[in-house]
Amino acid sequence: MSNIGFTQGMMDMEITGRKQMRDIYYVKKKIGDLIKESHVPEDLIHSKNTLEWLLELKADADNALKIAALGHDIERAMEGRKVKRKDYRSYDEFKDAHALNSARIMAEIMEECEMPEDLADDVFFLVRHHERGGTERANLLKAADTISFFHVNLPHYFMREGEEETKRRCMWGLRKLPVNLKKVVAGFDYQNQEIAAIVKSCTDLHPTNYLLNKAPH
Ligand SMILES: [Fe+2]
Repeated sequence: MSNIGFTQGMMDMEITGRKQMRDIYYVKKKIGDLIKESHVPEDLIHSKNTLEWLLELKADADNALKIAALGHDIERAMEGRKVKRKDYRSYDEFKDAHALNSARIMAEIMEECEMPEDLADDVFFLVRHHERGGTERANLLKAADTISFFHVNLPHYFMREGEEETKRRCMWGLRKLPVNLKKVVAGFDYQNQEIAAIVKSCTDLHPTNYLLNKAPH
C-alpha cells in the first residue's frame, strides 16, 4: 500500500510540475504578446536579451527570476497604462513608478495564468525592485537589465534622445553596476562611432566623478 501511495504522490507531483510548466509557458507567451505591441522598438529584444544576460550571470536562475527578466519593463509596452517622465520630478522617481507599475501588471498576468501565489509574489518583488536592487536576486535582475541596456537599447536611445541625454543615461546606468560588470560594458564593440565614444568617455571616468551622480532628465 505504501508503495502505491508513494507512486500516486509522485504522479501528483509530476502532474503539478507539468501544469506549472504549461502555465509558465503561457505567462511567457502573454508577456511576449504584450511587448510585441510596444511603441518602443527595442522593448521586445530588450526583454529577451535581459533574460539572456540573467542566464549569463546565473545559469541556474529560477522561474521567478526568468519571468521577471522577461516582464520587468512591461508597463512601457502598454500605451494606456505606462507612466510618463513628464509627470515626475526626477528620473529616479519616474523609474520607481515604472518599476511599481510593471510589478502590478505582472501580478495581474500571474493571476490570470493561475500561477501559485508564492511565485507571483516573488515575481512582483523582483520587478518592483529591478531598478534599485536590494537583495541578491533583485541585484542580479538589476545587473542583467542594466547590461542589456548597453547591449541592445543604447543605439535606439541615442537616435531618440541625442548625445547629451544618452551620456547622462549611460552614467546613470553605469552607477548601478559593480566594477566587474562595468568592465563588461567597457568591452562592448559599438558600430556607431559616436555611441562608442560616449560609452568610452563614460566608462573611462573614475566612479567618483560627479557625473556619475547625475540622473538623466
Ligand atoms: Fe529594462
